[in-house]
Amino acid sequence: MSLSIAKHSLVTISGPSGSGKSTLLNLLGFIEPVQKGEMAYQSTNVAHMKQSQMNAIRKFQIGFIFQQFHLIPVFTAEENVSYFLARQGLTPDEINLRCRDSLEAVGLWQHRMKRPSELSGGQRQRVAIARAIAKKPEVIIGDEPTGSLDQQTGKEIMGIFDQLVKQKELSVILTTHDPMVQKYAHDNLHIQDGVLVT
Ligand SMILES: Nc1ncnc2c1ncn2[C@@H]1O[C@H](COP(=O)(O)OP(=O)(O)OP(=O)(O)O)[C@@H](O)[C@H]1O
Ligand SMILES: [Mg+2]
Repeated sequence: MSLSIAKHSLVTISGPSGSGKSTLLNLLGFIEPVQKGEMAYQSTNVAHMKQSQMNAIRKFQIGFIFQQFHLIPVFTAEENVSYFLARQGLTPDEINLRCRDSLEAVGLWQHRMKRPSELSGGQRQRVAIARAIAKKPEVIIGDEPTGSLDQQTGKEIMGIFDQLVKQKELSVILTTHDPMVQKYAHDNLHIQDGVLVT
C-alpha cells in the first residue's frame, strides 16, 4: 500500500478482521520494524533513523491506544497515566496537572483510585485514552479506541480528538468500523488483505 497522512488530520482505517489494520498502526507507531518498503515520518525516511531516534519518537511524540489497552494491572487508573509521564522527565506538578486534566476529559477522575480489574471495559479503554492524551503527543494512534464505549461516550472522546486536531495540536490515526467515528475523519482508508482499496 502507498499512503500519506497529513499533519493535523484525523484519519480512520477500516477493513475486515485480519486485513492488517493493527499491523499498519504498529508500523506507523514504530512498534514493529519496517522490514520491506519505505516509511517516512515528518519527511525523514525511517531507514535513515537510528534506533535511539525511533525510540525517542515513540516515547515523546506518539500516543498509542492499544486494541487490548495494555494497562498495568497493579496500578490505579491515575498511576497508569502518571507512570509514563514520570518516564518523560516531567515535574511532579506537571504530571499531576496532566493526570487530572486527561482523566477529567474522559470522565474518570472520580474513579482514579481504581485498578483496571475494578473498572468496566469502557472505563479501561478511557484510561488508555487518557494516558495517550496526557502525553501531549504529536500523533495519537488508536486501535479501535472507541470499540468498548457507548455511542455517547464515544462521541465525547471523538470531540476531544476533533478539538485537538482543529487546534493543530494533534494528528489522529484510528482504526474503526463505527460510522459515528468515521464522520469526524478527513479521510477514511479501507484495507482488504493488506491492500489499500480506497
Ligand atoms: N505477530 C504476528 N506474527 C505473524 N502474523 C501476524 C502477527 N500479527 C498479526 N499477524 C497476521 O497478520 C494479519 C493481519 O493482522 P492484524 O492484526 O493486522 O489484523 P487486523 O486488521 O488488525 O484485524 P482485527 O480487526 O481482528 O483486529 C493476520 O492474518 C494475522 O494473523
Ligand atoms: Mg486489529
